[in-house]
Amino acid sequence: MSNSHRIILGVTGGIAAYKAAELTRLLVKYQYDVQVVMTESATKFVAPLTFQALSGKEVLWSLWSDSSKNGMSHIETSRKSKLIIIAPASANFIAKLTHGFSDDLLSSICLARTCPIAVAPAMNMHMWSNPATQRNINQLKKDGVIFFGPDSGEQACGDIGLGRMIESEELLESINDYFTPKILKNKKILITSGGTIEMIDDVRGIANLSSGQMGSAIAHSALSMGAKVTLVTSSKNKNSKHIQTIYVKNVSEMHKEVMGHAGSQDIFISVAAISDFTPEKILKGKIKKDGKNFTLKLKPTIDILSDVSKNYKKLFKVGFAAESENLIENAKKKLISKNLDLVVANLVHESMGLEDAKVTLLDKKDIIDLPKSNKINLSKRILEEIAGRIN
Ligand SMILES: Cc1cc2nc3c(=O)[nH]c(=O)nc-3n(C[C@H](O)[C@H](O)[C@H](O)COP(=O)(O)O)c2cc1C
Repeated sequence: MSNSHRIILGVTGGIAAYKAAELTRLLVKYQYDVQVVMTESATKFVAPLTFQALSGKEVLWSLWSDSSKNGMSHIETSRKSKLIIIAPASANFIAKLTHGFSDDLLSSICLARTCPIAVAPAMNMHMWSNPATQRNINQLKKDGVIFFGPDSGEQACGDIGLGRMIESEELLESINDYFTPKILKNKKILITSGGTIEMIDDVRGIANLSSGQMGSAIAHSALSMGAKVTLVTSSKNKNSKHIQTIYVKNVSEMHKEVMGHAGSQDIFISVAAISDFTPEKILKGKIKKDGKNFTLKLKPTIDILSDVSKNYKKLFKVGFAAESENLIENAKKKLISKNLDLVVANLVHESMGLEDAKVTLLDKKDIIDLPKSNKINLSKRILEEIAGRIN
């Protein structure tokens, strides 16, 4: 499911326009095709050039400097789009939207729209609670306009109350949610991600290059597909507040958390790069360099995936196999020896710590090569394969 939905991001005049710049970056990262349209007031807060650089497209903001062939941007822009999102939506713009004004490009596009529209209000708490604004909001809801937020909290003017625009990450999540079929509705998914660190002494450890990006991408995609997600991770990637995130450092902490949660799950996806060895004992303090060789004795760690497999037979179990050679052969061995339902195999140099990855899926019947792609797209494809097998 590659994501190339075209979105119009309408930016209106308010301090929160700076958050729209971050939203643009995130939408582009998530493969949306973003056309930014600004009101004239919005251009006083953030320059169109910022949005142009982030979206890779000319920003539209004037009815009268239309670069389209027939001068009909105000009619045609929404025809090519799947959603208009106004973020931030000023009190003024909300009023205009309610009453069908079309005295600038963005309001004209909204009036002539042929796609759904969502707004993320951003205004002072008194502007928000004013009966005029509340009347407008109620009317817009009746008209089928989708609302994302607002949030409560400290405002740019110093007041504390309802009216803040929700954060760009949350907006992205709401937009992803809007576009994603709920193929994992109410399924409980437990995911591990990141690397582990096995301490040698008080300051040093055995770690690996895993960034936790793949696990994080799977967790967020699963969330937008309707799953209830628990993530056991060592990585400090910023995750949605709707993902239950449990931070761990080493194999034994990860094992304890996984075994504690696995019993109530439908699916277990082991993405974490888990150390195979740990020092026999952790040395006290910081080992001093004295010019002599130093020998470190290692013992094998507990195998979390095998333990889950043994103890939770009904779980749908997915393992990641990061190999440096003989990819398919080693992945098949893992599928059988750990009694898994699916293995996601990848060559270390094609995935670990990188933005993009190339993976092959294996189950007892099929081998499916997925084209090289960014980890967000890959996470969706992997979850679609899992959903197809459990539903
Ligand atoms: C510094 C400053 C901050 C403002 N912040 C907001 C805001 O957060 N929300 C809002 O609704 N209006 C805000 N306004 C007022 C709007 O910019 C004003 O109503 C403007 O006409 C909105 O135009 P637009 O809806 O066409 O973008 C602010 C004005 C100034 C000068």
